[in-house]
Amino acid sequence: MKKVLFVCLGNICRSPTAEAVFRHLLKQAEGVQNWVVDSAGTHAYHVGKAPDKRSRQAAEQRGYAMLNMKARQVSPQDFYDFDWILAMDHQNLSELVAMVPDDAPAKLELMLSYASAQEWRGSDVPDPYYGGEHGFEDVLNRLEDGCREFLQRSSF
Ligand code: 4NP
Repeated sequence: MKKVLFVCLGNICRSPTAEAVFRHLLKQAEGVQNWVVDSAGTHAYHVGKAPDKRSRQAAEQRGYAMLNMKARQVSPQDFYDFDWILAMDHQNLSELVAMVPDDAPAKLELMLSYASAQEWRGSDVPDPYYGGEHGFEDVLNRLEDGCREFLQRSSF
C-alpha cells in the first residue's frame, strides 16, 4: 500500500479538497485499493467539522465528492503511518518539519512541488478561507494539476 496525507492549516478547505481530487483520480485509474489517503490540519481550530461549504460546493461542481469527512489535527503517529505528507503551503511545511520525529520515514513535501504548470510549481495552494469565490476555484485548479502529477510520479 502507498499512503499519502494531505495537510493544510484547518483541514476544512484545501487538504480535504486535495483528498477528494486525489481519490477521484485514483478511482479513474482503478488504483483505489492500493492507496491509503487522508488529510489533516496543522491546527485544531476546526477539529470534528465537515469541510467548509464553499469548498464542498466548488468541488461538487467539478464532480468531486466531499462527504463523510471530519477535520482532524496532524498527530506524531502520522509521520510513521504515511509515506508522503504533502503540505499545501510553505507555512504548513515548516510546521510539519518542526514536528517530524528524527526516525520517521515520511517524506515531507510541498504539494505544488508536483505541479506541471510552471507558474504554480513550488508555490503555495493559497488559503481561500477569508477570500472570495475565486479562491476556491484557484485551489481546485492547482490541486487538479498537483494531484495528477503526484499520482503519475508515485506510480512507479
Ligand atoms: P484550510 O483553510 O487551511 O485550507 O482548511 C483555513 C480554514 C480555517 C482557517 C484558516 C484557513 N481559520 O483561520 O480558521
